[in-house]
Amino acid sequence: SRQWRGVIREYADRLDVTDATPVVTLGEGGTPLIPAPALNRRTGADVWVKFEGMNPTGSFKDRGMTMAVTKAVEHGAKVVICASTGNTSASAAAYATHAGIGAAVLVPEGKIAMGKLSQAIAHNAQLIQVQGNFDDCLDLARELAANYPVHLVNSVNNDRIEGQKTAAFEVVEVLGDAPDLHFIPVGNAGNYTAYTRGYREDLAAGNSTRMPRMLGFQAAGSAPIVRGEPVKDPDTIASAIRIGNPASWQLALEARDETDGYFGAIDDQKILEAQRILSAEVGVFVEPASAISVAGLLERAEAGAVPKGSRVVLTVTGHGLKDPQWALRGADGADVQPTVVPVDTAQVAAVLGLTS
Ligand code: F0G
Repeated sequence: SRQWRGVIREYADRLDVTDATPVVTLGEGGTPLIPAPALNRRTGADVWVKFEGMNPTGSFKDRGMTMAVTKAVEHGAKVVICASTGNTSASAAAYATHAGIGAAVLVPEGKIAMGKLSQAIAHNAQLIQVQGNFDDCLDLARELAANYPVHLVNSVNNDRIEGQKTAAFEVVEVLGDAPDLHFIPVGNAGNYTAYTRGYREDLAAGNSTRMPRMLGFQAAGSAPIVRGEPVKDPDTIASAIRIGNPASWQLALEARDETDGYFGAIDDQKILEAQRILSAEVGVFVEPASAISVAGLLERAEAGAVPKGSRVVLTVTGHGLKDPQWALRGADGADVQPTVVPVDTAQVAAVLGLTS
């Protein structure tokens, strides 16, 4: 068949599955790796964008969720549970309902994007808003999974990391080798860990000749790894990565050391600027948390840390349509007001600045 079969079937030989595994898939993975000439011009590097918003629920979480829900079903689970800033809950809800099992999702009250909230509801999850932040939600989810018959599908579950490592495989297949530098947003640091594992396995298998330097970025108001201590009240407009105590913190430090990597912090204004550059100059619309990869590249290039001509991959993790409100603000922060015209060709032409 010519249809992409989802990451488990496409990479069955590189995941812990057998012919008997009850694969739960929505066709995730196989996302585009898009050249970004506008970013080449700005940085002097050779920049490619891995657009993970093209997954079935609009984020990279689907790669991990196909594995996590498949394994949950294999183990006989009837309900999966997760804490989430929005994307994990959307993905868990979709995969669980496709598998015919339940999903319970815990999200910080009032702190997740509307599109993601609506996905959890649309996919029939038991949605619970917790009067706390993401870190509180994760504590609850872990305790519930330890004491009740619910199966945890946050990225502390290794099945999630296994599924997500396939994104690195796809990058290596398209480019013919690993890149020199890989930029990625960091919340719990599960995805940073997953890419490092994928690249490591490709190198060991002889599919590539090097490990990329892994550069991870947190929002300045929630940058525990950069600061070296948990952040009690993490704050950023990039709600997906508003996390004060990352679950994969230790693994991320190990991955950084292994790859000669880097962790940096970016303020919200720079995140929104980068989101606009990516949408208006490259044609790729991502949510604010995802744009931090672009902001990180621009910051590192400015600091002289991106050699000219180096090959760079940016993972952009979630689709802009999940959290569209930020794009409706102009560069000056004011709401964009589209021009209103009557049904009159000459007037539309005048507004567009067209002369016949
Ligand atoms: N980008 C987006 C769009 C995310 O939703 C997340 C995490 C990340 C980046 C960071 O990935 O945690 O592996 O370092 N979102 C989780 C969620 C926390 O609940 O959807 P990470």
